[in-house]
Amino acid sequence: STGCRIAGSGSSVPEAVLTNKDLEKLVDTNDEWIRVRTGISRRHVLGEHENLSEHSARAAQHAMDMAHVTADQVDLVLLATSSPDDTFGSACQVQALLGAKQAAAFDITAACSGFVVAMNTAAQFIRTGTYKNIVVIGADCLSRYVDWRDRSTCILFGDASGAVVMQAQSGDCALLGSCMRSDGTGHKHLQACYEGQGHGMKATSEQDASSMSSFHNITMNGQEVFRFAVRAVPDVIEGALVDAGLAKADVDWLVMHQANQRILKAAAERLHIPMDRVVSNLNEYGNTSAASIPLALDEAVRAGSIQKGDVIASAGFGAGLTWAGAIYRW
Ligand code: ACO
Repeated sequence: STGCRIAGSGSSVPEAVLTNKDLEKLVDTNDEWIRVRTGISRRHVLGEHENLSEHSARAAQHAMDMAHVTADQVDLVLLATSSPDDTFGSACQVQALLGAKQAAAFDITAACSGFVVAMNTAAQFIRTGTYKNIVVIGADCLSRYVDWRDRSTCILFGDASGAVVMQAQSGDCALLGSCMRSDGTGHKHLQACYEGQGHGMKATSEQDASSMSSFHNITMNGQEVFRFAVRAVPDVIEGALVDAGLAKADVDWLVMHQANQRILKAAAERLHIPMDRVVSNLNEYGNTSAASIPLALDEAVRAGSIQKGDVIASAGFGAGLTWAGAIYRW
């Protein structure tokens, strides 16, 4: 049978940094409140002349270099994002930047669960023998959707891209188990909705064109999302462990979506996994949505913390509502 391995990781983060002190000048907040409630000190944001596709291609290239995979060997580019440069999707722009001429490319939208959903999707294409080398990217630039006057959301988010290469191998599959869940009845708790007329033909006569095609800023019920997250992470990790036939004690590293340090702590407690096994980079990047898991993974791999053979549990959770887990061997 055909299994898959994770052959490389990479990431790319904008240089520009917004500190908590910078935010004190924009909204009524303070460094201590943000650090105590979230664990965040800084976040990186796209500059005026940068875009998500370029960062995604850079993250992908780093992962391909680690995996020793060349552009012409890539069969599929999966871009998990909710904030593409183009509403039609940005995976093809990434494919072009990589020069991956043979590759199919499409976007996957599942907010902060997007990267895990994309990993699980890639594994299906590999196990069926359809593709051999898949570049899986998680990338978001929610700084474009944040209301910079809303202190309850603008302190949380940052921009980044992260990627892995998933590769076919004969025999064992490194993706040991997975579990994916959705609950659209909770959509209202976290959204960035289209705000146009909905009837383009009617609108063309009277409306000025620019008002027809805008998305509302992110709105969030923080406490509801918090409560949801603390239940969702253990739910899909336990589901993925059952799928893998493994126990909590088999997990070497918890690489969760980075939304809030208190969520990481509460989820780790429920799973009885000690905090020194929980990867966190919230302090430096904030919540980078679909990018947060591959970015945290790549940093831990390059720092030498995560080593060959380690068992990793990842869980994404967020808008949709969506939550998704994967257990895999590095
Ligand atoms: N600075 C200072 N005070 C603030 C700020 C701020 N930035 N934001 C809110 N406050 C105030 C509130 O107005 C409130 O004041 P009040 O008591 O006078 O009404 C007080 O602080 C407490 O507010 P809460 O909302 O109860 O604060 P909480 O402890 O819940 O923390 C937070 C808020 C950090 C947003 C938390 O709820 C959280 O992290 N929730 C999860 C959010 C999340 O993970 N979202 C992303 C999901 S991933 C995705 O799909 C994008």
